[in-house]
Amino acid sequence: MARIYVEDRSYLADPKQNLLHACLSLGFNLPYFCWHPVMGSVGACRQCAVKHFKDEKDTHGKLVMACMTPAAEGTRISIKDPEAVAFRAGIIEGMMTNHPHDCPVCDEGGHCHLQDMTVMTGHAYRRYAFQKRTFRNQYLGPLVNHEMNRCIQCYRCVRFYREYAGGRDFDAFGLRDQVYFGRQADGVLENEFSGNLAEVCPTGVFTDKTLKRHYTRKWDMQMAPSVCVHCGLGCNTTPGERYGMLRQIVTRYNREVNGYFLCDRGRYGYEFVNSDRRIRQPRLARDQQPKSITKAEALQHLAPLIAEGKRVIGIGSPRASLESNFVLRTLVGPERFYAGVSDDHFPLISAMIEILRHSPVHSPSLREIELSDAVLILGEDVTNIAPRMALSLRQSVRQQPMQIADKMRIPLWDDHAVRDALQDAKGPLFIATPAATHLDDVATHSYRAAPNDVARLGFAIAHLLDKNAPAVSDLPADVRALADGIAQALQKAQRPLVISGASCNSMAIVQAAANVARALVIAGVPAALSFIVPECNSFGLALMESASLSQAFDAVLGGAVDAIVVLENDLYRRAPARSVDPFLAGAKHVIVLDHLLNQTAETATLALPAGTFAETDGTLVSGEGRAQRFYQVFVPDGDIQASWQWLRDVMAAAGRQEGIAWKHIDDVIAAMAAAIPALAQVQQAAPDATFRIAGEKVPREPERYSGRTAMLANISVHEPKPPDDPNTPFSFSMEGTLEQPPAALIPFFWSPGWNSIQATNFYQTEIAGPLRGGDPGVRLIEPAPQLHDTYFGQIPTAFTRSSDEWLLVPLYHIFGSEELSLSASGVAELAPKPYLALNAEDAKRLGIEPGEQITMKLEGTAHCLPVKIKAELPLGIAGLPVGLSGLAGISLPVWSVLEREGKPAHSS
Ligand code: SF4
Ligand code: SF4
Ligand code: FES
Repeated sequence: MARIYVEDRSYLADPKQNLLHACLSLGFNLPYFCWHPVMGSVGACRQCAVKHFKDEKDTHGKLVMACMTPAAEGTRISIKDPEAVAFRAGIIEGMMTNHPHDCPVCDEGGHCHLQDMTVMTGHAYRRYAFQKRTFRNQYLGPLVNHEMNRCIQCYRCVRFYREYAGGRDFDAFGLRDQVYFGRQADGVLENEFSGNLAEVCPTGVFTDKTLKRHYTRKWDMQMAPSVCVHCGLGCNTTPGERYGMLRQIVTRYNREVNGYFLCDRGRYGYEFVNSDRRIRQPRLARDQQPKSITKAEALQHLAPLIAEGKRVIGIGSPRASLESNFVLRTLVGPERFYAGVSDDHFPLISAMIEILRHSPVHSPSLREIELSDAVLILGEDVTNIAPRMALSLRQSVRQQPMQIADKMRIPLWDDHAVRDALQDAKGPLFIATPAATHLDDVATHSYRAAPNDVARLGFAIAHLLDKNAPAVSDLPADVRALADGIAQALQKAQRPLVISGASCNSMAIVQAAANVARALVIAGVPAALSFIVPECNSFGLALMESASLSQAFDAVLGGAVDAIVVLENDLYRRAPARSVDPFLAGAKHVIVLDHLLNQTAETATLALPAGTFAETDGTLVSGEGRAQRFYQVFVPDGDIQASWQWLRDVMAAAGRQEGIAWKHIDDVIAAMAAAIPALAQVQQAAPDATFRIAGEKVPREPERYSGRTAMLANISVHEPKPPDDPNTPFSFSMEGTLEQPPAALIPFFWSPGWNSIQATNFYQTEIAGPLRGGDPGVRLIEPAPQLHDTYFGQIPTAFTRSSDEWLLVPLYHIFGSEELSLSASGVAELAPKPYLALNAEDAKRLGIEPGEQITMKLEGTAHCLPVKIKAELPLGIAGLPVGLSGLAGISLPVWSVLEREGKPAHSS
């Protein structure tokens, strides 16, 4: 550490950092705009000026930009120096000459970094009395709103969008005070992380368009710490509610997981919570017109169904909490609890857990992925399946070239100098997938092949790293050379990473990835292995060790079941209708707990309204193996409650001991930790409901929350009592501690004078460091200390084209492939229509033009789809989008005949 002096007082600072980073880490109020904690410094805005003195005798000093000056040993600065204060005020005044001062109608107002910095620098009166510069705003799609007049030319947006996130359809145009930040022409922003512009931009140029549709001031929202439910990465979020409606999602900083950013699916998928398709009351149906019944009637109906001796099975869910799955498992008994995942995914997820448990490779956090210096991806289109990981990988390719900057003694925070030094240099990133990915532009090499060939490449790399790993015969020379290059790059790296997952539905790919990681460890290289899991609690459900869905189907067809309880699951997305229909028809009672009236819920004899992530408390286990708590944001209308509460109440109504004993979520967590050793540590994920700070709860509402008394004044002028929350340390009000809570309990980031999301600075041990007390979550899966496992040896045969059939492989879309976000209007608008993708040459040979219809026959069902050309698909392979309307429940890869105008098409 270096000793620096601020206002003549001595402090310790990281000499590898700049003075702005040091001052903010030390808690000083120093304004800034263009610097960003992870994007570094460019010295563009001149807002962070401080007076720098040569030594203690120097009384004159000179102005420097804190963000561009290292925190070197002996540095002496003054933030309060009158010249520095006047300079910063002058800079703000200059910036504000063109600013529209439209805070009362600006969505950012009251939560705005520009407002905060303006107040901080003391600029209060506008002296400039001439015409302001104005711009035309652009249509940027359904997610991001544009209001260019508010721009202060800090360049953060373009740096984030182009340099950090790799977007190409956004730039800075113009010069002097006529610089325009936007697209060349109106149109939907293409980058999957565009929503971060609203948080990166220090003013109201880019704002959340979905919030605009049901706008409320940001301090008027009730908030709680939450976890994204739209993929398996477990990004931390802060949802906000007002008047019973979920209004927005913003990033909740967790250094190990998502850091400062979210993907657009995670940010904008929340609107499914407000969907018209929500089940809000118990719904009794089958053999009669569906009708709403009360909670008491529902429990009365259910109690005899689960009484002793009744044959009830439960279908768990990878998108439901651990607690809900565990209470269902308890209700039906572990031996009658089945995993509600497809038969393709079921063995894959179990295999991943086994591999991570029994090998010495580490499952990395997203931050560790970002720090990897050589990466091999086998089979995963990361951007479309686990988007935030793609943003980390985009940074990982800079790790090796950073040595160039290091050698030139350029501090790594000096962003433009580093980028100038690095130019286009990129570290090794190898991608092997059937179709193109949005990371190909930064890849060293992209290999397009059928899933079997992707696996064979992986097996070959493992063999090159360790001759004891099984060899691959008949590998073409070019693939052998590629494998050799990848093996060398991984072996030379200090922090190599292998990524694989379930998206190709290939056990061979998962095993090949495990072999590569194992071979690296044996070669003495500390490799990490990251498995991408499909859903927010895929690992959590798998840790409960249930039987498969097809075993549940068999149980019902065998006539051994009276009632089926389906937890938060649309089974028609898990298996073909020809399997699900007889299953659901085979039991007299089908009880479904879910949020939306999906196809499974529509067939239920009784559908119960299950609370979403925003209306309930629970725990999810991410693909890293990190158990994280999410908390209820608001109390919903009607009989909506958490699935675990429904199932607990059903057990209590039937006189079951657990139902009576489990009063609160902590009781369920304690019982789960005792019953399932793999989940024993879940209790450590967050403090329990008794946690208090000086006897006080943590408020969900900011101190500035307004209008509580007036909100219901049309009904009663008496102040309504806020609801109690016996399950958590939070209050449903603004009453409670003003102290910063532990990291897992931060409902929103706020600090005096810092009303924007930049207040995050004051919750960290140092800027961009861990949150005070450690980042939230507890890792459940740690590497085994020794090599217990052996190499996998089942190497698949190479893919060969067929002249009569195409191998259909799954294609994923950030907007459209995930179930819940598809019910959010912004996401739905961006989801593609169903299609079939063909290689250009295949299409040409078939005489098919893009957009023409082709018929695909699968197990007797014909699907007529328009053709899309994907030039990079290997010959003989066709792509089918996953999860889109009419295409759910199809098991892929599968061979299929394609027909054109009623006649079979041939590929050669
Ligand atoms: S649009 Fe926002 S982020 Fe971009 S330059 Fe202007 S103020 Fe900065
Ligand atoms: S990457 Fe996944 S977990 Fe993170 S915000 Fe996006 S959908 Fe949510
Ligand atoms: S923050 Fe230092 S110049 Fe912009």
